[in-house]
Amino acid sequence: MKVRVALIGAEGQLGRDVALALERDGGEVHKFGHPQLEICDIESVRTALTAVRPDLVVTTAAFHNVEKCETNPVRAFTVNGVGTRNVAQTSAELGARMIYISTDYVFDGWKTEPYLEADAPRPLNVYGNTKLAGEYFVRSTLPQHFVLRTSAIYGKHPCRAKGGLNFVDLMHKLGFERDEVKVVDSQFVSPTSTTDIARLIVKLSRSDAYGLYHASGEGSCSWYEFAREIFDAAAIKVKMEIATTGDFPMKTPRPRYSVLENRRLKELGLNSFSPWQDGLREYLAGRELLSAANAPA
Ligand SMILES: NC(=O)c1ccc[n+]([C@@H]2O[C@H](COP(=O)([O-])OP(=O)(O)OC[C@H]3O[C@@H](n4cnc5c(N)ncnc54)[C@H](OP(=O)(O)O)[C@@H]3O)[C@@H](O)[C@H]2O)c1
Repeated sequence: MKVRVALIGAEGQLGRDVALALERDGGEVHKFGHPQLEICDIESVRTALTAVRPDLVVTTAAFHNVEKCETNPVRAFTVNGVGTRNVAQTSAELGARMIYISTDYVFDGWKTEPYLEADAPRPLNVYGNTKLAGEYFVRSTLPQHFVLRTSAIYGKHPCRAKGGLNFVDLMHKLGFERDEVKVVDSQFVSPTSTTDIARLIVKLSRSDAYGLYHASGEGSCSWYEFAREIFDAAAIKVKMEIATTGDFPMKTPRPRYSVLENRRLKELGLNSFSPWQDGLREYLAGRELLSAANAPA
């Protein structure tokens, strides 16, 4: 059966890949960018979604520039908390299921082994707190939900909130431009490609295994190790240095270790994430940046 989807955040980094994957799967995808739908305004959400009568609502929309959230907590809560509630409320009114994208930043980073869905969240910053508020609004408003926490995402389309290049493309560029590249080695994540998240969303679009899921690339690395892998895969010879905290001062606290374990997806046989190194190579190959020596035979 053809799934009728309303996709909010459709012009974003993740949204564009989700749209493509759902369309390739035969879905009827109604795409809403910010100019067409304002999640902070429930009437805007109602008008747009009522016209479509979706089976499934997917929202990737967020205010997720961590520094800007910290200086504008009201706006952050209005978008990530209340805006998400507006989407959940309208989905419930229309009898639609919902997928909400959340973040590893709901955790404080004090663990030394991967976070499970059962671990208690304790965000360190406004962004994490407001995304967690969004999670709770979804979970308390609409039983037919999927909340997907993901981490360190990169995709071929630009991230609207952060602007500029994603980490992979930035390292690739700097590797060619500079003699030496400095990267922090004190923050650990699970790099995740938007293509892999989009694949999971296609799977879930036909599933009724509702709930909260960790959904990130398998394994973990520091940003320094991530950069090392990018240079190796693209055969870029550049000197690497470990950056000190003074090199890239950040005003807003972030978790030191926010590695996610996809425990629930695995338990239900739904985990489709590959090791983060494979996701990276697939991405580089798609952009023709993988070195010949690393290209698949
Ligand atoms: N980037 C990461 O590393 C990361 C990690 C974990 C989780 N996440 C989560 O992943 C999701 C997708 O991220 P992304 O990289 O695809 O972000 P993105 O490129 O910034 O896309 C977000 C989209 O949402 C739209 N939007 C923002 N505020 C809106 C509002 N009030 N009403 C309607 N639409 C609005 C934006 O439109 P405008 O740009 O026109 O405002 C943009 O098209 C977010 O929920 C984020 O919290 C991201």
